[in-house]
Amino acid sequence: MEILSTSARDLERAARAIREGLLVAIPTETVYGLGANAWDARALARVFEAKNRPSFDPLIIHVADPEDAGQVADLAVPQARLLMEHFWPGPLTLVLPKNDRVPDLATSGLPSVAVRCPASLVARELIRRAGVPVAAPSANPFGYLSPTRAEHVAAQLGDRIDFIVDGGRCTVGVESTVLDLCSDPPLILRPGGLPLELIAGVVPGVEVFDRATTSPRAPGQLPSHYAPTRPLFLVPAQGIPASLAEAGRLGSKPPRIAALCFGRDSAGRARACPGLDMVVDLSPDSDPVEAAAVLFDRLHELDKAGWDEIWAERLPEHGIGRAVNDRLFKASVKGVPGKN
Ligand code: TXA
Ligand code: MG
Repeated sequence: MEILSTSARDLERAARAIREGLLVAIPTETVYGLGANAWDARALARVFEAKNRPSFDPLIIHVADPEDAGQVADLAVPQARLLMEHFWPGPLTLVLPKNDRVPDLATSGLPSVAVRCPASLVARELIRRAGVPVAAPSANPFGYLSPTRAEHVAAQLGDRIDFIVDGGRCTVGVESTVLDLCSDPPLILRPGGLPLELIAGVVPGVEVFDRATTSPRAPGQLPSHYAPTRPLFLVPAQGIPASLAEAGRLGSKPPRIAALCFGRDSAGRARACPGLDMVVDLSPDSDPVEAAAVLFDRLHELDKAGWDEIWAERLPEHGIGRAVNDRLFKASVKGVPGKN
């Protein structure tokens, strides 16, 4: 594996590699993607293999310009054009009827295809130079934390892929919102970088997949995903120290505990926890956008540092806070120690 810069020369090399069927990790505004030529079924097979991803989990196809989505999907679906105009380029993936030319492997045999035009200028330039649509799942082993830096990709998949384009840290930090336009009304399958409230402003009837009442349609909806290797317990907003106290974790050692806090007076609340070994405030200004941007970064750090347990507070359930809560929920051990 070789790490490339975002210089024109390196982007040209990366683009050629993609065109020729190699695997190239690419920066986007959400997370790093593991890019492959979407027309090349062999390259797609290598993506599944490198990620250890089950073949029933379809890929997102990325295009350099909104109009290029017509190469892979039928854009005549109600609302598609409207949403593209409002939110592309950006962190919104649309699930649309697929074109025949898209290999079945990309869509896991579904009649629909997920497509997105990323906001990242590096990603768009790379895809434009490649001259083909680029299939790119997040560049992590299946089920593990998503990468928001080139180093995360190198550590997780370095020996299984050909190149990484190092575009620095991803600015949004959580994956795109996946919106199914083949459902009526349109259905958000995965909350993400584009908040529900903004989509509802354009598509008033939009619904949100409800984990409690519906079985998963996409593995991103599985209850366990995006997980660190250490057990993570999710507690209510500003639930530290109360939840730790309830679980009998205050002052009892081991386990060695790291806390991920968000919201009013995180520092003060953490000081009230004598048993805590490490406190991370996701945003000193209580800004959910900042919290999303650093979420996976902090989780990677905590995971690497080898704390016995990570305890994380929910964010308020609106805006991009929904995506952060969704990722934390999927990363979490269900249930809290000391309780059933
Ligand atoms: O921000 C993102 O979306 C990143 C960057 C790299 O663009 N990509 C990403 O890809 O998160 P991935 O593969 O990790 O997640 C794609 C999600 C999965 O939950 C998959 O099941 C769903 O999109 N998906 C893909 N095609 C679909 C389809 N035809 N119908 C329903 N869900 C689909
Ligand atoms: Mg993923």
